[in-house]
Amino acid sequence: PRLAVLGAPVEVGAGRRGTLMGPAALRTAGLVAGLKELDLHIEDRGDLAVPVFSEGNGAGRNARHFDEISAWARCLSDHSYDLLSGGYFPIFLGGDHSLSMGSVHGAMRHCARHKREFFVLWLDAHADFNTPETSPSGNMHGMSTAFLCGEDGFHGFFEHDSFEPLPPQNLYIFGLRSVDRDERALLRERGVNVFDMRHLDEFGASVLMRKIIEEVGARDGHLHVSLDVDFLDPSIAPGAGTPVPGGATYREAHLIMEMLYDSGLVRSLDVVELNPFLDERGKSACVLVDLIGSLFGRQIIERI
Ligand code: ARG
Ligand code: MN
Ligand code: MN
Ligand code: MN
Repeated sequence: PRLAVLGAPVEVGAGRRGTLMGPAALRTAGLVAGLKELDLHIEDRGDLAVPVFSEGNGAGRNARHFDEISAWARCLSDHSYDLLSGGYFPIFLGGDHSLSMGSVHGAMRHCARHKREFFVLWLDAHADFNTPETSPSGNMHGMSTAFLCGEDGFHGFFEHDSFEPLPPQNLYIFGLRSVDRDERALLRERGVNVFDMRHLDEFGASVLMRKIIEEVGARDGHLHVSLDVDFLDPSIAPGAGTPVPGGATYREAHLIMEMLYDSGLVRSLDVVELNPFLDERGKSACVLVDLIGSLFGRQIIERI
């Protein structure tokens, strides 16, 4: 496939500043060069500009910077849709996790248009399934999956509010170890597929991944992967604004990426929440670049 890299320097969805620098750090860590080494066709489309927006719709809601994030999402949704329509595999560099409200929305529209079933793999310590009503923080990076699944509380976020939401059974949250009380209840009620760290420890990454790949593969689906840096253990990826101990190891994460590559099902990607201000000498950026290499086919030795 032809890959297109697009930076989305959004940071107001998170509680701390700094993810704005994420795309730059990922490029410095060699993201584009690393993919070129795999003989892939890759186009770096640079970073999007902070969109112009007007305050209004967000007033009085427990959703901080609603209008700014809505402007980002509208812009990202169009880019995502257009890149996929042009035959590209889009790679969105964040930026905080609110950017997925746009990137996934656009990919979802593209799939609806082509009558292709759509699935999301959310690699994250968090579920990001809060609504303005359930969120204890009001930070919109904790609301992305709820928005995408059509939960209430986001009226006016997109100009044309109605879209075909993501069925909760098509969402796989993987690596969960921090969830808010009302968020937990909502996940349960909606029937989201949650693979938490307990599952990962008990069954191992490969068993769970095989199950996901089988389900998506059986429907010939489009799989969108949304990789939050805090999916990884903070010891290998300290550059996260909301780190949680007990995350995926280097080896688990690589195995997941390698299995995803082998599946051939992944067609769009977000790499989010990297906060270079909190990172240690580019450590987290380098791990992410490494992982992305594995997702696009880098192997230790060719497998027969
Ligand atoms: N659940 C918490 C909240 O709603 C944390 C969310 C963290 N999200 C993230 N994308 N890092 O505020
Ligand atoms: Mn198409
Ligand atoms: Mn997240
Ligand atoms: Mn997270």
